[in-house]
Amino acid sequence: MRVATIGTGYVGLVCGACLADFGHQVICIDKDADKIAGLSRGEMPIYEPGLHALVHSNVREGRLEFSTGLAGAVGQADAVFIAVGTPSRPGDGHADLSYVYTAAREIAAALDGFTVVVIKSTVPVGTGDEVERIIREARPQADVSVVSNPEFLREGAGIRDFKHPDRIVVGSEDERAREVMAELYRPLYLNAAPMLYTRRRTAELIKYAANAFLATKITFINEIAELCEKVGADVQEVARGIGLDNRIGTKFLHTGPGFGGSCFPKDALALIKAGQDHEAPLRIVETVVAVNNQRKRAMARKVAVALGGDLRGKIIAVLGLTFKPNTDDMREAPSIALITALQDQGAAVRAYDPAGMEQAKRLLPDITYADSAYACAEAADALVIVTEWEQFRALDLGRLKGIMARPIVIDLRNVYRPDDMAKHGFFYHAVGRASPGSADALDLFPSRIAAE
Ligand SMILES: NC(=O)c1ccc[n+]([C@@H]2O[C@H](COP(=O)([O-])OP(=O)(O)OC[C@H]3O[C@@H](n4cnc5c(N)ncnc54)[C@H](O)[C@@H]3O)[C@@H](O)[C@H]2O)c1
Repeated sequence: MRVATIGTGYVGLVCGACLADFGHQVICIDKDADKIAGLSRGEMPIYEPGLHALVHSNVREGRLEFSTGLAGAVGQADAVFIAVGTPSRPGDGHADLSYVYTAAREIAAALDGFTVVVIKSTVPVGTGDEVERIIREARPQADVSVVSNPEFLREGAGIRDFKHPDRIVVGSEDERAREVMAELYRPLYLNAAPMLYTRRRTAELIKYAANAFLATKITFINEIAELCEKVGADVQEVARGIGLDNRIGTKFLHTGPGFGGSCFPKDALALIKAGQDHEAPLRIVETVVAVNNQRKRAMARKVAVALGGDLRGKIIAVLGLTFKPNTDDMREAPSIALITALQDQGAAVRAYDPAGMEQAKRLLPDITYADSAYACAEAADALVIVTEWEQFRALDLGRLKGIMARPIVIDLRNVYRPDDMAKHGFFYHAVGRASPGSADALDLFPSRIAAE
């Protein structure tokens, strides 16, 4: 089939390259001329494992092209994917749909013959109706069907997720459009990935409900982690103890500095706004967002406590800046709130990230960037692990201790074992696991202790 994708970001590029790999003829379109020029030279605009090789092979085999103009590509396409950004609208938190609607107008002008317009971007319920209205207003005679097909891939594992999805959600009641979607995803159907056909509005809501539920799971375990620290329990064992219950599941029960990224924060906010607009408030999601926002900054308090309460003049080494490993995406990364809070308390911050430093420099211009984990730790008063990149999981602890001014590690991802760290002479502070011998591991029964 012939496919055009509008928007060549994390989703549009992965989606376009994977569909080409399935054997379809794909043109990826983006307004950003630099991005398209780079892609045409074989340079990837984002860091995504496996993407470079996938794009190369499909370009070489003539199935994948790039363009800044959509006229010809859309005219010839059986399916046009809208994969443009839907960021939070400044001021009110609603999803900013201006990119989607602009794309819809541009598509309308270029349609020729029966075309399925597939909304891949994450959009509030009813956006498909509005996209259809925009297209029909501009081209009343156009033979078009607007479908919702939300994307569930995770950055850092995008290609695998696209090719091995848990499910493919197709929101459309139009039989012709469903046939086109089935044909596009046929290779996955053969892999037994379930296709879930729903009404368009249902599909739109599935995406937001899924992200809000996952954000809730993370926030739940983060609050349990806080309690673990107070009562001397281990959050990882609690997570395993509850996760082995099939009704709960083990995924998304890893405590950390709070969720971030390009999706969960903005999608949770957009869902809250939709709930308010429709007089169906989503109080659980509202609380999740509030708790998460406080948590990111509160992580700086953890660092201050580890250093005896005063951060002024201290050098803090931060390992990991991106919101998760295997991506260069800095959008809403917890590191931003944490580092800003450390700076507010007078600390000097030095950071290292394997892929995110270029993007980080725009958001965090006032920190020093190191070119390795060890250069980052040199003479530092404390080391904070913020993102669990693979290469931070097996640091040479002897070397690390030798180069730091003080052997203090605050591990916000629970990468290390407390007993190992103690053996190497570190003062080690994890999340949701009381440090052995530290004051927060004790004092369980203050009234009884007082009475004794
Ligand atoms: N990033 C993820 O992990 C992820 C996962 C699932 C869903 N989503 C959703 O997918 C959508 C896209 O996300 P992303 O992270 O890929 O965004 P992104 O910001 O990385 O990319 C969007 C691209 O669209 C381009 N663009 C905007 N308007 C255009 C137009 N009219 N014509 C051509 N190009 C245009 C921009 O130049 C940009 O390159 C969002 O709605 C997001 O919520 C993202």
